[in-house]
Amino acid sequence: MSETLRSTNAGREWWRSAVIYQIYPRSFADGNGDGMGDIPGIISRLDSLQELGIDAIWCSPFFTSPQNDAGYDVADYRDIDPLFGNLNDFDNLVAEAKKRDIRIIVDLVPNHSSSEHAWFQAALNAGPGSPERERYMFRDGKGENGELPPNNWGSVFGGPAWTRVDDGQWYLHLFDSTQPDFNWENKEVREEFKSILRFWLDRGAAGFRIDVAHALIKEAGLPDLAEQLTTMSGEDAERPKDRVSPHPFWGQEGVHEIIREWREVLDEYEDRAMCAEAWIMPLSRMAKWTRPDEYHQAFNFGYLETPWDKERLQAVIDDSLKEFGAVGAPSTWVLSNHDVIRHATRMAYDKIPKQGDGIGPDYEQPNIDRGLRRARAATAFMLGLPGGAYIYQGEELGLPEHTTLEGEYRQDPTFFRTQGKRVGRDGCRVPIPWEKEAPAFGFNETGQSWLPQPDIYASYSRDQQVGIEGSTLELYKKMLKLRKKYELGHGDFSWHKDSIGDHSLGYVNSGVLVLANFTGSNIPIPQGEILLSSQNDLSSGVLEHDQVVWVKL
Ligand code: GLC
Repeated sequence: MSETLRSTNAGREWWRSAVIYQIYPRSFADGNGDGMGDIPGIISRLDSLQELGIDAIWCSPFFTSPQNDAGYDVADYRDIDPLFGNLNDFDNLVAEAKKRDIRIIVDLVPNHSSSEHAWFQAALNAGPGSPERERYMFRDGKGENGELPPNNWGSVFGGPAWTRVDDGQWYLHLFDSTQPDFNWENKEVREEFKSILRFWLDRGAAGFRIDVAHALIKEAGLPDLAEQLTTMSGEDAERPKDRVSPHPFWGQEGVHEIIREWREVLDEYEDRAMCAEAWIMPLSRMAKWTRPDEYHQAFNFGYLETPWDKERLQAVIDDSLKEFGAVGAPSTWVLSNHDVIRHATRMAYDKIPKQGDGIGPDYEQPNIDRGLRRARAATAFMLGLPGGAYIYQGEELGLPEHTTLEGEYRQDPTFFRTQGKRVGRDGCRVPIPWEKEAPAFGFNETGQSWLPQPDIYASYSRDQQVGIEGSTLELYKKMLKLRKKYELGHGDFSWHKDSIGDHSLGYVNSGVLVLANFTGSNIPIPQGEILLSSQNDLSSGVLEHDQVVWVKL
């Protein structure tokens, strides 16, 4: 480990304050020009991430996969899909990142495998009652001839959560039919995943982002969902309510035992961490997953879902610091990822589509200037907070969602399982722009792109922003630099009472005042050294609407 890393984080558990940058490998940088991003592409762009000032990279899945859910359908957990490179490339990535003081976090997908996984294929061949079937969730159906699914659960992506196989049994898949759920009551499954953890830890992974971390255990007997929670497909049907308790598959108590087993594995190694993707509310429940012997962190989706609204932001920050603090965990902060509408677009709307629905050409199109202004303010408000923070590739460019992507290009299983009624998540997954004049805006050298890039991405290209005072990229760099300088990730937080007004909210962390003006009239900027502003122009000495300033008091 380099000296810099050691000195910044020594004895302080790096993950407590780290800024972690999410790479969606398909769309970050494409080394071989086939239109699909890859690991050599990532390596070739590491310098730009070092310049940005991040501490770690979380890579969305790059494992062997038929790519029915963009790699979240894993066929071999111990290998890299040729689309993205090979294990040697992964080792190089870890080594090259380390030279730049950047850690690599791997995305582990334990709730389900791909239907092409050797175990699932064996389960299909072995037939009902076999130990092979025991590793997954096979059941007989209901009805006279078992022709009805075992219960009324629906897939998160739309349609039923059960698919019938040739011999008449059904298997459970909370997501796509090509993503069969593992049976986590099964010993072999548990042992296998501990071994997979070790495989990547031994290769130098700094830890894991754990996919659908809250769904592994299902309620015994697989009871029907109560009427109001029904998730079956259909235009008016509700989708999974992951916020309610008790629920037969989200947040069952039994999952905690599994996490503790994983934690023991991680604790055998130095300095490793796991972050849970658990869409569980309220935060008091989510925080339970980050008790000292469980996950190190959980994504704060309560924060992500909070609109740019003074009262609600104040409440969610209070809640986060209290609930995570109560179990001794840092809160995390996040505004965008590969499953939600990019926040530069989300914030343009007063009312946004439900998570996972996406925005298509028929939807009211956003005012992107309004969205970007608010997104910059919201990010500046977020990055002053103590704890860990997550950034999704492209947000440092102020990149908006691709909101006019035609159906013919869509790839998200949600689109297909709902017959296009929910367009899905492709709009936030489009390859990011590097150089305005280059093919595919520098994503590669051939101009190919697995999802077409909208023309407006040209003006967001990195080369249009580097060194340009006031660009979103330079704003992010400045924020991360100051965050480090003043150790805000480890800092002491308190509300700045004097700054709390009808449409303003301020807090102080380590002597830095972070002050936001939400809507309405200008407010004066308190005395002190102005460190940064989410909008460049502060010549008037006042803070305008949708603007955030950092002031050293
Ligand atoms: C998680 C991932 C999402 C994926 C799903 C199924 O929510 O973030 O992209 O589709 O799990 O693995």
